Amino acid sequence: MVYRIAPSILSADFARLGEEVRAVLSAGADLIHFDVMDNHYVPNLSIGPLVCEALKPHVKVPIDVHLMVKPVDRIVPDFARAGASIISFHPEASDHVDRTIALIREHGCRAGLVLNPATPLACLDFTLENLDLVLVMSVNPGFGGQKFIAGTLDKLRAVRERIDRSGRDVWLEIDGGVKTENIAQIARAGADTFVAGSAIFGAADYAATIENMRQELARSAA
Ligand code: DX5
Ligand code: ZN
Repeated sequence: MVYRIAPSILSADFARLGEEVRAVLSAGADLIHFDVMDNHYVPNLSIGPLVCEALKPHVKVPIDVHLMVKPVDRIVPDFARAGASIISFHPEASDHVDRTIALIREHGCRAGLVLNPATPLACLDFTLENLDLVLVMSVNPGFGGQKFIAGTLDKLRAVRERIDRSGRDVWLEIDGGVKTENIAQIARAGADTFVAGSAIFGAADYAATIENMRQELARSAA
């Protein structure tokens, strides 16, 4: 199993964002998770395509854009141009989910669908065959530093089963409350891609934190 660690820059020091991104990259980040909030779909406001474009020359790994915006479609081409590799969105934020998935792929990005804690798995019916990633939220979207919702583990197991049944290479990403202490358990439930904001940016040593997470992941696989 290939595991990927995706630091969420939402918890970075925004006054030193470039430096923070370079620091997590040299600490071993596999992706940069980029949280976009619009103060409409979620009650918070974060960063947009201009910031993505500014960071892009400094980022040699894929930029994993998590759109918490409504509507979705208008902003997709902007993020593709700004250097996103993966664009994920919430089905509740799009009137035409299949169209949004197609739009993301037409713009050369990988497409992800995000399941909120209360979103049923039915939204994967007729979409999974066109997805590159499923992002399971283990907190309600809008803020970093929240507690992992335990019931998410059952949901991860159910999504993992559906992905395996599809026979396709779809990444299963988890977002919210991921720490060194719970990452092994989350991996055992089926996730392969781990977003961590406060656990990494809140630590004194980013490299040691990512290394500890990798050790926990290796242990979970053994
Ligand atoms: C929440 C965001 C997350 C957040 C995770 O809406 O999607 O990516 O930054 O933060 P932590 O890891 O602190 O829960
Ligand atoms: Zn996120």
